[in-house]
Amino acid sequence: MAQPLSGESAPTPDTGSLAGAFRCVDRVSDPGRFVACLERLSSIPFFRDYKSESRAALGLRPGDRVLEVGCGLGLDLAALGADVGPRGLAVGLDMSRIMLERTRQAAPPRACLAFAAGDALALPFADAVFHACRVDRTLQHVADPFQALAEMARVTRPGGRVVAVEPDWGSYLLDSADPEAAGIVARTWREGFPSGRVGRSLARGMAGCGLSDIAVTPRTFVLRDFAAADAIYDIERTVAGAVAAGGLTQERGAAFLCGLVQADGLGYFFSSLTFFQVMGRLRGA
Ligand SMILES: C[S@@+](CC[C@H](N)C(=O)[O-])C[C@H]1O[C@@H](n2cnc3c(N)ncnc32)[C@H](O)[C@@H]1O
Repeated sequence: MAQPLSGESAPTPDTGSLAGAFRCVDRVSDPGRFVACLERLSSIPFFRDYKSESRAALGLRPGDRVLEVGCGLGLDLAALGADVGPRGLAVGLDMSRIMLERTRQAAPPRACLAFAAGDALALPFADAVFHACRVDRTLQHVADPFQALAEMARVTRPGGRVVAVEPDWGSYLLDSADPEAAGIVARTWREGFPSGRVGRSLARGMAGCGLSDIAVTPRTFVLRDFAAADAIYDIERTVAGAVAAGGLTQERGAAFLCGLVQADGLGYFFSSLTFFQVMGRLRGA
């Protein structure tokens, strides 16, 4: 088993933050905000493209059984169902009953799709029942992502593939005339995640649970629109959090935000974030 991620801890749940509360969507006051966030992301070409490429990396064949861990709204499940065909099975697992209910409602009524409520840290499946297993932007919300990877390896058959796509919030950049403030805001946001630096550690986690032939593909998401970035990265709320924590003065936080809005108006707003797709294969077969 791999060593746990160093320096990562499970902070106190923040029931409003998109960083901190995706692990407890059923307990937040406004779950619709989390649903809207996933819908917004799925409409962005960068996300559609990496999702399609990471599904291809699973190497699925008709008749296979595939598990999607942290399926959210199930936006990938229908595509996985199409990959395995009517004789196969695509199972979407999520710990949020609200997300699963939305997934059930949206999914086309097909025999090859199934849903399961459960925790990535203790998958409710027997050993080696799936041909492949995928997780997408969920390990960042899990306190022990290596345990989740070990569970995915456990339920995957010998020779099968495990594919994970996660951002690494250590790569989150916001351009500002006050780069120190930008760093404080980026760190405040990253620390809201239980495992905000999991992207860089996926290969280590996969190796630690016995996966081989590990392949890493980086993809950088550049967003040049402040309103869109604020909707995804909760920038205004994060600045307020950095002010409340004493990292920024009120005036500096306001000037930082003002600078971002101004940059947007003048056409040079810049944010970027790198995602890592990592594929590993179970030995044998
Ligand atoms: C950021 S969303 C990603 C959803 C989906 N994979 C996508 O790409 O749209 C994270 C999802 O993981 C779920 N989740 C968080 N912690 C989990 C856990 N420990 N076990 C299972 N699901 C979890 C959340 O309920 C949420 O649906």
